[in-house]
Amino acid sequence: MKRQIVRTADGSSSIYLEEMDEQYHSKHGAIAESEHIFIQNGLLEKKAEPVISVFEVGMGTGLNVMTSIQAAEKHKLSINYEAIEAFPILISELKDLNFVEALNFDPMLFQKIHKTEWGIEQSLNTNFRLTKWHEKLQMIKLLPAQYDVIYFDAFAPEKQGEMWSKEIFEDLFTALKYDGILVTYCVKGEIRRRLKEVGFTVEKLPGPIGGKREICRARKEFKDEA
Ligand SMILES: C[S@@+](CC[C@H](N)C(=O)[O-])C[C@H]1O[C@@H](n2cnc3c(N)ncnc32)[C@H](O)[C@@H]1O
Repeated sequence: MKRQIVRTADGSSSIYLEEMDEQYHSKHGAIAESEHIFIQNGLLEKKAEPVISVFEVGMGTGLNVMTSIQAAEKHKLSINYEAIEAFPILISELKDLNFVEALNFDPMLFQKIHKTEWGIEQSLNTNFRLTKWHEKLQMIKLLPAQYDVIYFDAFAPEKQGEMWSKEIFEDLFTALKYDGILVTYCVKGEIRRRLKEVGFTVEKLPGPIGGKREICRARKEFKDEA
């Protein structure tokens, strides 16, 4: 599939897939999107946890890993981060992405994120552990009640509908701890309804660009079944 490195509105890079007519990040800003959706409205919701367990769907360029590492440093968090990726980017593509400069990020650490072995937990620094899974999300069975936050960063439902199925949402709901949250950029009514169907409480929140283009946060609320 032909891949092109592009610039988004905040100056940060992204990858465009011509055949799919789909981009890895928002055209309005890859870093802005990552920080607003996944960090501000995802990770930091759980900043009181002694160790925050994160699961990312679609690790791609590793941008959300980078912004999470920076948030961990800034807010003194300890993070256990797992990410799944079915079609990893090429190591040769790393040099064309400008996240290291744009985030003022350690270049060796950026390389390490991508070069560490799949399926083995790695300590990237004292407060951040990363485990990457080279799998298709549909092919794995997640254990119950593992994660505090899920970053759901799949390609859009119009482009890759199978990633937004009821079965996948059921699995992700089970994999969250009680009061765990799933955050995503997609607020389509059909997707929010599906999230509700599997048990989530769903809210729409202001988006990254002056509050426009809303985002979605779904919570696994504690239900007293007594
Ligand atoms: C919107 S991009 C994610 C961007 C990524 N979070 C980043 O910051 O670069 C979607 C990602 O999901 C991956 N993907 C596609 N199908 C998948 C599947 N079945 N299971 C897991 N990952 C998949 C793609 O290869 C791509 O990296």
